[in-house]
Amino acid sequence: MKALVLAGGTGSRLRPFTHTRAKQLLPIANQPVVHYALRAIADAGIVDVGVVVGGHADDIRRAVGDGSAFGLRVTYLHQPEPLGLAHAVLIARDFLQDDDFLLYLGDNYLEGGVTEFVRRSRAGRDAARLLLTAVPDPTAFGVAEVDGDGLVRRLEEKPEQPRSDLAMIGVYAFTPAVHEAVRAIAPSGRGELELTHAVQWLIDRGLGVRAETTTMPWRDTGSVDDLLEANRHVLDRLEGRVDGKVDAHSVLVGRVSIAEGAVVKGSRIVGPAVIGPGAVISNSSVGPYTAIGEDCRIEDSAISFSVLLRGARVEGAPCIEQSLIGREAVVAAAPRPPQAHRLVLGDHSKVQLTS
Ligand code: DAU
Repeated sequence: MKALVLAGGTGSRLRPFTHTRAKQLLPIANQPVVHYALRAIADAGIVDVGVVVGGHADDIRRAVGDGSAFGLRVTYLHQPEPLGLAHAVLIARDFLQDDDFLLYLGDNYLEGGVTEFVRRSRAGRDAARLLLTAVPDPTAFGVAEVDGDGLVRRLEEKPEQPRSDLAMIGVYAFTPAVHEAVRAIAPSGRGELELTHAVQWLIDRGLGVRAETTTMPWRDTGSVDDLLEANRHVLDRLEGRVDGKVDAHSVLVGRVSIAEGAVVKGSRIVGPAVIGPGAVISNSSVGPYTAIGEDCRIEDSAISFSVLLRGARVEGAPCIEQSLIGREAVVAAAPRPPQAHRLVLGDHSKVQLTS
């Protein structure tokens, strides 16, 4: 069995972060989202992995390499335009040959891995197997209707009136039957070749598509809130470890991981929290549920439930919460109490002001 990881696409809901960075590389507890997928694939015993890349191909290649760090053999497959998940399968035809494969969306975070799912799909005789989970708002996902025998009867992509609350998680197991399906379907209203339509094509031809539901924590990290939530889940399982320097005026509470080369001075870090290499925290309070990336600077500030990307700086900010702060971004106190807000914002940014 092979695996296909989709790491192309545009990440429009995560702008402005995804203008300059692939969404699959945004960090959860200081590790790129796609690393969690690759580890789950390796744990399931799969070795050959095709990684579909688009606009941010070079960044993905740098972060994933040849896969050997995960015990994988990675082949990169270039998708010139993000024309849909089924299109990504279409361009992977030569790599996949006639092998069964696991398809994993590179921006999905699923706790607990896919080992059992892969084992059952290897043992089963179905044309495809989908992993589903119940969600409060199914309109944002592919939605499945499942019969009493666990077979999928009908699928709809982001329906306005969902017929069930079972969303398709970005993990699917396919036999080579899917190749005919992705060739047969036409682009959807949004101009994409939808994988959901390809799977429906299989169902319509009487080929078995089996559903498995999971209650494990899962997030499509396609939005800021989902990314923060995935960060919270991973930090919940963090083990404390201090490799960096913590001075005598600092206090660490609970499970805190401080990487080598990080410095904490006169600060209070409340776990779970992770501080990346080269970060400097001084006269500040950090955490809980906070991931501070490599080379960040936090001074005279308080920050919790947040994610800071590499090189971000926060100075003189008394209360930052539930924030995602981009690479090299700077948050600084205004020189005097502002009468007005002065903003320099990237395209599609969203700012919430208290007054
Ligand atoms: O997250 C689960 C959902 O993922 C499913 O419930 C939906 O049925 C499925 O269509 C998908 O919906 P999204 O709108 O979240 O898909 P997104 O465009 O975010 O793409 C998912 C991943 O695939 C992401 O890592 C980008 C990558 N991708 C996407 C497209 C459209 C590609 O590599 N190539 C593409 O052409």
